[in-house]
Amino acid sequence: MLGYSLMAFEKVAGPEELPPGEMRELMRSGQPLVLCHTPDGLHVMEGTCPHAGGRLAQGALHGSTLVCPWHAWEFDCTTGELDFHDSVKLRKFPVERRDDGIYVDFD
Ligand code: FES
Repeated sequence: MLGYSLMAFEKVAGPEELPPGEMRELMRSGQPLVLCHTPDGLHVMEGTCPHAGGRLAQGALHGSTLVCPWHAWEFDCTTGELDFHDSVKLRKFPVERRDDGIYVDFD
């Protein structure tokens, strides 16, 4: 048995497309995800707020904090955790910056 898992990274943006401080929505199988460029790097998380369904990519990015556009719940992009209740957590997806762009593993 081989001791590794196969990862299927897909290109989602060009190398210069997402400057620091910006974010964008990615659609995957009909579900929104959000790609954020924070001071500590790139992050991809679920893009629907677990409170009432706000589209997180339409919110605001302050440093590493993503603020929902509807009722201002705040999520830490580095962990996916809600700021006031760490049992609420957005799923995160592996992301890599390569020479030719930004890649995400959606599996
Ligand atoms: S829907 Fe996101 S805080 Fe209410």
